[in-house]
Amino acid sequence: MRRPIIAGNWKMYKNVNEAVELTNEIKRAVFNVNNVDIVIAPPFVNLSEVGDMLLETNIRLSAQNCYWEQEGAFTGEISVPMLKSVGCQYVIIGHSERRKYFGETDCTVNKKVAAVIENELIPIMCVGETLEEREAEKTLEVVKTQVTEGLAGFDEAYLKTLVIAYEPVWAIGTGKTATPGQAQEVHAVIRNLIKDLYSENLSSEIRILYGGSVNPGNIENLMNETDIDGGLIGGASLKSEGFIDIIKKTSNLCTKKGIEE
Ligand code: PGA
Repeated sequence: MRRPIIAGNWKMYKNVNEAVELTNEIKRAVFNVNNVDIVIAPPFVNLSEVGDMLLETNIRLSAQNCYWEQEGAFTGEISVPMLKSVGCQYVIIGHSERRKYFGETDCTVNKKVAAVIENELIPIMCVGETLEEREAEKTLEVVKTQVTEGLAGFDEAYLKTLVIAYEPVWAIGTGKTATPGQAQEVHAVIRNLIKDLYSENLSSEIRILYGGSVNPGNIENLMNETDIDGGLIGGASLKSEGFIDIIKKTSNLCTKKGIEE
């Protein structure tokens, strides 16, 4: 078992006061969890405030997006060095909502992943098929293309920290989770693809998260699958109890499987 990541994607929820409150609740409850990488991704405007609250804690800060240039005349965009300066260590890239509503493509994902890695942050690159694609039995083809194009041109040394999140679009925010078996099938295909594109070594080390209606009731079954290394959690990360429960259940599973620190 690889060390899991439980990441909360707050999307466009929580003003600064709400973000501070939620962060405090999570901090208090999980301070002694040391076998799971815990990550929260608040909206841009809260990153600085939340980043200060996370100093010297076991919770890491993530942004939900970035632009690929270092700086410049790009009104409304935020660069990776700016994210780094407020304490971000992770950036979510290519979430399906960004692909669907904001025109992101495998090509922009590729540029953003590069920018994140060049600035020594960790990208969480999201891939996943729509319902139509699943029904047309194109899931594996779609996901393989997204991974291959998203990583085009990078060599292995570059990708040591990369995290991939498999998020079937039909399972996001719908309450319909992929079954552990459906998720495992795709995770195994992604891991194999990494082996083909790079090496056995990278494929065995890379962490692949599942996202799409993860909640305290299904996290354990998902985490019991060999190739699922954690969760990217939307709705259930917006209330402290649910998110804390997911973290603790994951941590207990790790303890059972002998993962400490
Ligand atoms: P959800 O969102 O947990 O609300 O389905 C997951 C995500 O979009 O990352």
